Amino acid sequence: MTAQIIDGKTAARNLCDELRAKISLLPSDNRPTLAVILVGDDEASHIYVRNKQKKALSVGIDCRVIELSSSIGENALLSIIEELNEDNKVNGIIVQLPLPRTIDEFKIISAINPYKDVDGFTPYNTGLNVYNRCEAFISATPLGVLRLLQSTNVNLSGKHAVIIGRSNIVGKPMSRLLLNCDCTVTITHSLSENLPAITRTADILVSACGQPRMIKSSWVKDGVIVMDIGITRVDGKIYGDVDFDEVKEKASFITPVPGGVGPMTIACLLSNTYNAFLRNYVHQPHCHHHNCCCHH
Ligand code: GUN
Repeated sequence: MTAQIIDGKTAARNLCDELRAKISLLPSDNRPTLAVILVGDDEASHIYVRNKQKKALSVGIDCRVIELSSSIGENALLSIIEELNEDNKVNGIIVQLPLPRTIDEFKIISAINPYKDVDGFTPYNTGLNVYNRCEAFISATPLGVLRLLQSTNVNLSGKHAVIIGRSNIVGKPMSRLLLNCDCTVTITHSLSENLPAITRTADILVSACGQPRMIKSSWVKDGVIVMDIGITRVDGKIYGDVDFDEVKEKASFITPVPGGVGPMTIACLLSNTYNAFLRNYVHQPHCHHHNCCCHH
């Protein structure tokens, strides 16, 4: 079998086109606004934030980037978040991770108003997601993976999903989303023993471990759906966690790197921001198409 390639670039472009069309109908003085807090000078984070801002502006979302020195204290950072929480023009607030080690990430993330938490990282939205509540904001990367999985039209119910990685940003929310879709879910991580034996039992394999081309064709069964979240630069070239050339000969569907999951991440963040705007606009939390629990 040779896999069908899941085209994340086109899916992301379509999602952004839809958002742009909806936002263009709004009055020009009342557009969604995203605030991005960036602390320190982590090079990758600066690139990610620049891309988020560029894409936001391209669909008509205002984007304020607040760049802060890594020497900023926790209290100063908390007051900036408080100001943004109170600012009625701001619909979405994200704090780019990782934060400098001197800052308590949990304390900072927890300070974000849950109705503006478009990354879905606050304990409040995490809890709503555990309860499979449709008003939860879902973290952009796992949401993008789910949208791409759904684009295959494969019935997810009862399938064995194996996730490699247990981070708060990707692995854990991904496991909750797939569980909410009635998958049987296994979460593996860097200390898991006999990893290839586990991945060989996967109907759906989602990898976010950052080990370039670690997953070989002997690690998967025929017909597996492979979602590769890894992005690692080796000698100037970008690789995923999956040995694409090998595994595509065995999988039914596979995401390429680049051009798979990556482009969907920013598109889903912008979709969450638009939903936060709508929610503020009508002054009541309710189910919107794009962050409904059923993720239709
Ligand atoms: N760092 C890596 N991924 C993410 C993300 O999705 N959101 C934020 N805020 N920081 C990140």
